[in-house]
Amino acid sequence: MTLDVTLPAAKSRRLPDGVSIQPRRFDFDRLERVPQYWLGGNPLMTHTENAFSILIPPGERFFIQSVQHYADRAADPELRDLIRAFIQQEALHTRAHDAFNASLARFGVDVEREVAYASRVMTRMEKLLPRKMQLAVTAFLEHLTATGAHVLFVEPAIGRAMHPEMLRFWRWHAVEEMEHKAVAFDLYGEIGGGYVLRVVSAIAAILLLALPFAKIAHRMMRDDPNPITDAMREQARELNRKVMGPQLRMIAAYFKPGFHPWKCRDEAYLSEWYASSEAAGSRAATT
Ligand SMILES: [Fe+2]
Ligand SMILES: [Fe+2]
Repeated sequence: MTLDVTLPAAKSRRLPDGVSIQPRRFDFDRLERVPQYWLGGNPLMTHTENAFSILIPPGERFFIQSVQHYADRAADPELRDLIRAFIQQEALHTRAHDAFNASLARFGVDVEREVAYASRVMTRMEKLLPRKMQLAVTAFLEHLTATGAHVLFVEPAIGRAMHPEMLRFWRWHAVEEMEHKAVAFDLYGEIGGGYVLRVVSAIAAILLLALPFAKIAHRMMRDDPNPITDAMREQARELNRKVMGPQLRMIAAYFKPGFHPWKCRDEAYLSEWYASSEAAGSRAATT
């Protein structure tokens, strides 16, 4: 894994002490060596995460566009800079996930079909929802991804189940999701977005995306000739039991009127990663 951090970080009093939004370009070292079932050696768990990865590039394009529609309404220059760094981070995530998704073709995944379907899903959302609601959907989905990022750091069993290259990949993405989790939310507040549209949009996002996500995962499992055994289902359930409690509590917090993304504290996990060898590798890339 190499990280290139030549783009500038965005700093702001809106962020907790010691946190900035730093776009980092991630390159896989040996993507071809990542095994087919990189999560727990388990097709059920791996296909589910791969389905999520397929949705990420079109999803992030949707996030970027929804923020760009209103970027010039941000009066605070610091918020404008955070938006700039947010867009750069999401564009770099898309690039890395495109590379990973393309690599799934060697395992018989119909990547072209799934990528095209995921793009259609997001385009439909764009056509269906008014722009302000698109921004509110983004604010919620950014929180949702930040809850996933949070549990990756809280629950060591997830990391233990992952192939090391994939763990570094997801941790890099998770760190940046935590760093920028409040940008769309703050912009939504800046344009006068209120509570009712915020929660209605969150529910709409869940309703519009749950089925496509399940469909992609289902098709990947259906096309895979290797069987999913009862032991694999039990392994997936066991990991879910560990993760779902904290994640659902964080998701529920979004529906409280006074919610703000930084009320879910992630600073300690960010500090841990900043001090780790993974981030040290990224500092070397700046010189
Ligand atoms: Fe992202
Ligand atoms: Fe994000």
